[in-house]
Amino acid sequence: MSEQENGQLPEDDDAILPELKLPDLLLTDTVKALHASIENEWDSLQRSACQTAAGRALWNHVIQDPLAGVLAGETYLRSLHEKMRKDRLSNAREVSGVILAVRTLWFDSKLESTLNSFNGEAQVVLLGAGMDARAYRLTCLKESNVFEVDFPKLLQVKASLLQAATGSSNENQQSKMMAKTLTRVAADIRDDDWFEKLQRSGFMPEKNTIWILEDWRPRCPFWTHERPFKSIQQAPQPAKVTSNAPR
Ligand SMILES: C[S@@+](CC[C@H](N)C(=O)[O-])C[C@H]1O[C@@H](n2cnc3c(N)ncnc32)[C@H](O)[C@@H]1O
Repeated sequence: MSEQENGQLPEDDDAILPELKLPDLLLTDTVKALHASIENEWDSLQRSACQTAAGRALWNHVIQDPLAGVLAGETYLRSLHEKMRKDRLSNAREVSGVILAVRTLWFDSKLESTLNSFNGEAQVVLLGAGMDARAYRLTCLKESNVFEVDFPKLLQVKASLLQAATGSSNENQQSKMMAKTLTRVAADIRDDDWFEKLQRSGFMPEKNTIWILEDWRPRCPFWTHERPFKSIQQAPQPAKVTSNAPR
């Protein structure tokens, strides 16, 4: 999708959203089958990861995330595009997805400035990573080991979608890894053993770490929300925690 195709409004008519153009990869059998499994097998919490990816894909005039469209899938791109179109036509004060775009930019800038305070080198843990593609789009991560924590089936499908996208022969859809390393950690953050799983995957508690909890929407009793923070606090090195940006 080019900037002109999605999100970028034509100068002569800012009330009309350009027609949605799907990435070619979404039309391939492999990627279609992967997205069908999302529709059939994931619950609404896991599917929310595709909604946020759709936001980044359709606000691509402010966020450069070339993988977001493939990760989001047709259903969520169409649904958000329709909401944006209606918002434009009704002259709504807030066009759908804008808050998500602002939030992502806020996290990107916080991540970069915190990395700079660590001389560009730290572990970065994305709790409830969903369809986040920071490891592929942020050059500031070039000296960092990135860990993505999420449910096993989400991480499996995400890896297959990224394999299809990064191996694509279409130059526009090719992306390469920016982070020094990327490790996916399949875990339920509500369970007591998620921190142990993270360590078994190579995470080192004694190293400088930036934790990102961007819109992870915990679906658990509120008193268990604190558990991830307790595990983070118990890490020996002072860690930087970045949680949901204010709406
Ligand atoms: C709204 S999405 C946000 C994804 C990503 N952080 C972003 O901003 O695009 C919420 C994510 O948190 C994950 N999540 C929520 N609760 C979780 C849990 N208990 N264990 C692991 N992942 C969880 C979901 O699977 C989903 O990918």
